Amino acid sequence: MADAHTEGYGYLVIEDGVIAEVVWMNPPEDPGHHLLMPAFTDLHVHFRDPGLTHKEDLETGMRAALAGGFTDVQLMGNTQPITSTMEQVEDVIARARALDLIDVHPCISITRDFDGKDLSHLNEVKAPVVMLTDDGFGVADAKTLFDAMNLAKEKGMRLTLHEEEPAFSKTDMRLAEDVMTLRDLHLGRVTGCYTHFAHVSTKQAIDWIRAAKAGSDRFTCEVTPHHLVLWDNPYRVNPPIRAKEDVDALREALTDGTVDAIATDHAPHTKEDKDKGAPGMTGLELAFALCYTHLIKGGIIGIKTLLRLLAQRPAELMGLQQGLLQPGMDADLAIADLAAEYTVDPEAFYSKGKNTPFSGARLQGRIVETWHKGVRKFPF
Ligand code: DOR
Repeated sequence: MADAHTEGYGYLVIEDGVIAEVVWMNPPEDPGHHLLMPAFTDLHVHFRDPGLTHKEDLETGMRAALAGGFTDVQLMGNTQPITSTMEQVEDVIARARALDLIDVHPCISITRDFDGKDLSHLNEVKAPVVMLTDDGFGVADAKTLFDAMNLAKEKGMRLTLHEEEPAFSKTDMRLAEDVMTLRDLHLGRVTGCYTHFAHVSTKQAIDWIRAAKAGSDRFTCEVTPHHLVLWDNPYRVNPPIRAKEDVDALREALTDGTVDAIATDHAPHTKEDKDKGAPGMTGLELAFALCYTHLIKGGIIGIKTLLRLLAQRPAELMGLQQGLLQPGMDADLAIADLAAEYTVDPEAFYSKGKNTPFSGARLQGRIVETWHKGVRKFPF
């Protein structure tokens, strides 16, 4: 798949928060090691606000996003209460706007309060909601998901699906993902609903998604940095860290257009909750460095492909006018120091969540500035 980004030396003219002009110049002898990029859009984060703000709140989540180069994040609905109404969405957006850091885009649950059945709340769902999800759980009942797909299709909305058949959750997490992915590809094909597969982690699932995408432009998917760089690792996350064969298949799918986005599944937890087995890890602040160190330095993809996956394509899916350094795009920008090498210290995270398997890892590539609509927001 061709990547639309251009590499060169130059500067941007920004007017009223929008890129007015890109001026290319001849590079000097030593062009340095700072890379100006479109800021990133994360399709999948958990900010825990309202209800679980001891794990993360809007402000700490948004600061973590900025520190990671993200100016737009889509919020999953497994807050307390579960996000099932437009009033809840509007409350979160209003509180986030008052903090004036980045833009947040809450999802609404597919089934009311994640009850797995009730779709009656979907009648009132409207913009700015873009996607519906029961993330954290698969929608177990096929007829319920079929009906939800038909409703979402009528509204032109996308479902983002956590693929985990609960009948297999306790015994076989690979089968749990694979069997539900196959079911939902078929339901998506039958209904014509825009269907997004969240945190795809198995070779089988990504192979089926690739095949389905060849016949329809309504299927999209994301993978997480951790499923791209870890294998055979017991750190608790859902879906689990898989085998090297799965990682190789996911990596291959980055370049051929099968994967639309790298999304973090930023899932902050307290130490006590992790000790009790809560699945997930924080993701926003390490995403770029993990991808730069393991995927770019590791020779798996180039920087243009990474920017398609972190910025351009997720912004397109969210209907945002950003993700490319081109005139007319919002001036949402990130600057990385590609030479910076450091050891990960979770205590230095802006996120309340210090839960990461990458504590102590050596990484290269650090976000040094993030701009939102022409205003530098990071460093703070
Ligand atoms: O590991 C995970 N943590 N996977 C999910 O799907 C949910 C998330 C969470 O909310 O903690």
